[in-house]
Amino acid sequence: MANVTVIGSQWGDEGKGKIVDWLANRADAVVRFQGGHNAGHTLVVGDQVYKLSLLPSGIVTGTLSIIGNGVVLDPWALRAEMEKLRAQGVEINAENFAIADNCPLILPFHRDLDALREQAAGAGKIGTTGRGIGPAYEDKVGRRAIRVCDLAHLDLLDPQIDRLTAHHDALRAGFGQPPIDRDRLKADLAEIADFVLEYAQPVWKRLNKVRKAGARILFEGAQGVLLDVDHGTYPFVTSSNTVSGTAASGSGLGPSAVGFVLGITKAYTTRVGSGPFPTELDDETGQRLGERGHEFGTVTGRKRRCGWFDAVLVRQSCAVSGVTGIALTKLDVLDGFDKIRICTGYRLRGKVLDYFPSHAADQAAVEPIYEEIDGWQETTAGARSYAELPAQAIKYIQRVQELIETPIALVSTSPEREDTILIRDPFTD
Ligand code: GDP
Ligand code: IMO
Ligand code: MG
Repeated sequence: MANVTVIGSQWGDEGKGKIVDWLANRADAVVRFQGGHNAGHTLVVGDQVYKLSLLPSGIVTGTLSIIGNGVVLDPWALRAEMEKLRAQGVEINAENFAIADNCPLILPFHRDLDALREQAAGAGKIGTTGRGIGPAYEDKVGRRAIRVCDLAHLDLLDPQIDRLTAHHDALRAGFGQPPIDRDRLKADLAEIADFVLEYAQPVWKRLNKVRKAGARILFEGAQGVLLDVDHGTYPFVTSSNTVSGTAASGSGLGPSAVGFVLGITKAYTTRVGSGPFPTELDDETGQRLGERGHEFGTVTGRKRRCGWFDAVLVRQSCAVSGVTGIALTKLDVLDGFDKIRICTGYRLRGKVLDYFPSHAADQAAVEPIYEEIDGWQETTAGARSYAELPAQAIKYIQRVQELIETPIALVSTSPEREDTILIRDPFTD
């Protein structure tokens, strides 16, 4: 398998960025295929910390980095992120960076609508990142989006702006907001157009060409399977498909391009935003996981909710996303716990379940069934080989592997790029 598709197997923030960065120097191209700047991927290389939201993590190693058509692109956010990274010494140019010209844009009123809806939703609030992701995807499937290629033809945009304003002005009126200012929108688009167009191209063509030449492609997913709009904890999800198959449709390559599916999996569980979380710990242990794991959102700075590892959820994510092997991350965060718990099933109204039910009320009502194992007092932080791990940590890894019915390919033991244990190379398997 020449290609690798990295996805999150939980609710995001599993450490995808770190693993993509670690793999990137062996890839010829790194491709983002869904989501937008709701993602927050943190890379630590020596004393440098890079925080990426929209740029593929491959940009830091100088690997060809591509934003595929499945992404929703906020061009102003992209420009700010590029400036930030360039100030950190990262080289970004039209040689090593490309944007799909059929990528839909996130516009300022998408962000407004995201916030207005959340404010109005009361208890039904999703807890979005407020980046306009949902409204932008809605406009894409509603056939109202303005896309990257439209920036080269601003004089032809009026009929599309009519379609957009017909929809949005009605919504805005309902929220007591003025109609979209068309002149302002056109002026904003005109101002940003040249910046975006410098990198715009039919990336499907470029990717098919590099693929035929035998290149290795690394697909970088954002969010996680439990935030997938079909398979996740609906409605508390994001507005894209986060499963591995999206790598094909979101980049312009067929399904056989997906290759080895590497499911990034945290050794415990976290979630930002609202929605069910069966193993959530509202106690000292949850607090300790959050502190040891520095569990604060990269994008919004929100405190992440924390809990024990949920093997039922990860088994399900691996199944629906066809995961070939997982990378188990943040194992070091579990160092020093006397006892560690793993959720192996649920109890729902007197019945035992071995899967996560679809209905939100059932998802909220399931009670986890735990298995408890002894922890380890030694440190795993910074370990780069299996031999450096304490016996109990190996036992934990093996039990996780058994319960999720998926082999472990990598183990990560610190934020630092090189603190990674390779068990099975996703690029050569
Ligand atoms: P992503 O969204 O999946 O890329 O993950 P984030 O970057 O949002 O969150 C993961 C956080 O954990 C980041 O701050 C990483 O630097 C950090 N991290 C990644 N792997 C490890 C690990 O193995 N151990 C520890 N302690 N931190 C890690
Ligand atoms: P990475 O790529 C964690 C969550 C939000 C909210 C829900 C919907 O860093 O793993 P949205 O703004 O997408 O409409 O919000 O999804 N969410 C994430 N949680 N990591 C992410 O990305 C996320 N991207 C979105 O908190 O619950
Ligand atoms: Mg993140």
